Amino acid sequence: MTYDEIRKLFLGYFEQHGHKIVPSASLIPNDPTLLFTVAGMVPWKEILQGRAAPTYPRVADVQKCIRAGGKHNDLDEVGFDGRHHTFFEMLGNWSFGDYFKEEAIKMSWDLLTNVLKLDPNRIVVTTHISDDDATILWKKIAGKDAIRLDGDNWWSAGDTGPCGPCTEMHYDLGADLPGGLPGTPDQDGGRFVEIWNDVFMQYDRDANGNLTPLPKKNVDTGAGLERWASILQGKRDNYDTDLFQHLMSAIQDVTHVAKTSENTPSFKVIADHLRAVGFAIADGVIPSNTDRGYVIRRILRRAMRHGQLLGHHGPLLSALYPALVREMGAAYPELAREEKHVVEIIKNEENAFADMLQSGMKLLESELPKLQTKTLPGAVAFKLFDTYGFPLDLTQMILRDRGIDVDVNGFEKCMTEQRERSRADTRGTKILWESRELPATIDSAKYAPDENMQSRVLAILRNGEFVNDAAPGDAVEIALDKTNFYGTQGGQVGDTGELRIGTNTAVTVTEAARANNIVIHKGTVVAPIHVGDVVNPVINSSVREQTARAHTATHLLQAALRRVLNTDVEQRGSRVAPDSVRFDFSFGRAMTDNEKIQVENLVNDWIKQDLPVKHEEMNIDDAKSRGAMALFGEKYGDVVRVITAGDVSCELCGGTHVYHTGEIMRAHINKEKSVASGIRRITMSVGNLAE
Ligand code: ALA
Repeated sequence: MTYDEIRKLFLGYFEQHGHKIVPSASLIPNDPTLLFTVAGMVPWKEILQGRAAPTYPRVADVQKCIRAGGKHNDLDEVGFDGRHHTFFEMLGNWSFGDYFKEEAIKMSWDLLTNVLKLDPNRIVVTTHISDDDATILWKKIAGKDAIRLDGDNWWSAGDTGPCGPCTEMHYDLGADLPGGLPGTPDQDGGRFVEIWNDVFMQYDRDANGNLTPLPKKNVDTGAGLERWASILQGKRDNYDTDLFQHLMSAIQDVTHVAKTSENTPSFKVIADHLRAVGFAIADGVIPSNTDRGYVIRRILRRAMRHGQLLGHHGPLLSALYPALVREMGAAYPELAREEKHVVEIIKNEENAFADMLQSGMKLLESELPKLQTKTLPGAVAFKLFDTYGFPLDLTQMILRDRGIDVDVNGFEKCMTEQRERSRADTRGTKILWESRELPATIDSAKYAPDENMQSRVLAILRNGEFVNDAAPGDAVEIALDKTNFYGTQGGQVGDTGELRIGTNTAVTVTEAARANNIVIHKGTVVAPIHVGDVVNPVINSSVREQTARAHTATHLLQAALRRVLNTDVEQRGSRVAPDSVRFDFSFGRAMTDNEKIQVENLVNDWIKQDLPVKHEEMNIDDAKSRGAMALFGEKYGDVVRVITAGDVSCELCGGTHVYHTGEIMRAHINKEKSVASGIRRITMSVGNLAE
């Protein structure tokens, strides 16, 4: 039975038994206590806790799961046995206050033995030591004597939340395999494999460990699809099933390396990691330096290391992703829908890490002969991390084969010292912001500031650390849910101003910057401010006007250069600040004095004519057909802003501008010089400064 057939059979069975079939939820849980969806119950947590009402009393699904960080973490197991995965699919059925232990056990047993026709004698069941009901039910329904266990038969998703006793079903793969019964010391030997877990969610656990009975008793079950496939296909290793065999043959095609018994662990790791990385990014995870982004980055880097072990140095997961789409795209349409995006992100990661991996390995190889003991100093592991981007667990994984440990304490000590250094160095903050998963700042009011805007403080960064509150005198960077501030972008420097609480200044803002799509208000605290506070973001409008003068003048300058020099002149970069402009453009020689004067005069003529400046939003195609100038190498969305000054200039631009060229008052070219071969730079003043 293939994966597709098993999914269908499972869902069909529960549909027949009155369950609503729902699609898998995202791998990114709507739950701050978890990095990933670690089990089928995660999307149902609120209902299981009685905090939300169920739409259906019975549901069943096949849920995408990742267990690679936090409480549920199988990362280190992958590759060494045949049944661990970082990404896997969990078959599950739920009762929300509907059926309980008896019906749950009956259905599990019926499906396993009557529908799938597994040999009842090969199924071993366990129950929680306290759970007499389930133990009696197993005897009644299946004639089975359950093995009663303690820790293993109590299930919870996180340290707090719904939990309860569970009953597990294990399958005996055969007496020729090592391994003992569940609950015995060698239970992990491989002979008995857990194939289903029925959890009877009866309690809610609070942060102090207290158990409160839930208002409604629920059933939460989970079965690993990969294990079912392996048993139903007569295999003893999940990686021998159809899906994984196809992924592994794709790995052979991409690496041009044949699978042998020696390199099989690397094939398993790459196949597993391809699924985790591919599915996570398709669900919106971006590799980064924190939280789930870092988990995915680490997994991707481990996969690349295994690629190198196979002797393969080119793109790996990005080249394999189409095979994943072929294999699983029918069950998960998001894989194909996001293909372009996912491949691009993986490629970027792979390119960034490929060279570092080789250089890092060189460093490591040169350090190993120096070792006096079987422990790599923390400082070396830290250098590998800091300079070559080796996550600690990658270094550990590389050394494990050689029987060498890493001094983890020493590594942590170097990390702490580094953090303290970077606190003193605020240049690194963009990275901190980028790795923090905040919603994009709503900044549509930047073109027409709303004086009464009330925004919420989402995050405060101080001394390289995110904090909940800041006190007068603190240098901070603040993100809000929405803002009037223009954050530095497209060459235009950001607004200055203040964040007010009521009518009082809470923070003076010396620059609004951007990290991806978050506007960061940098400045100094005047009155205590906390995450969650409501503030009124007020820009300094006279500075804004100066910047607008400079920006519109930049457009006029470009138009004048194209008239005086030639129409091939193209912008190559710019910095627009209050009343001053730095403009780089493509041109093969120095400008003559005469040309400079002509350009300056032309700009000043247009200023004197007080041409109207139109600010419009339109479709990119309409903008192009109007002949709007676009920036070389810049990417634009479908809807663009077009700034038109009289019939002199028409450019795509996201910046802020004046409404009449007369507002610029005057322009003066200060300097023209070379900055690179074929690129010239003009610095120009406008407004009062030029006067
Ligand atoms: N939530 C249970 C598990 O993951 C079913 O094992």
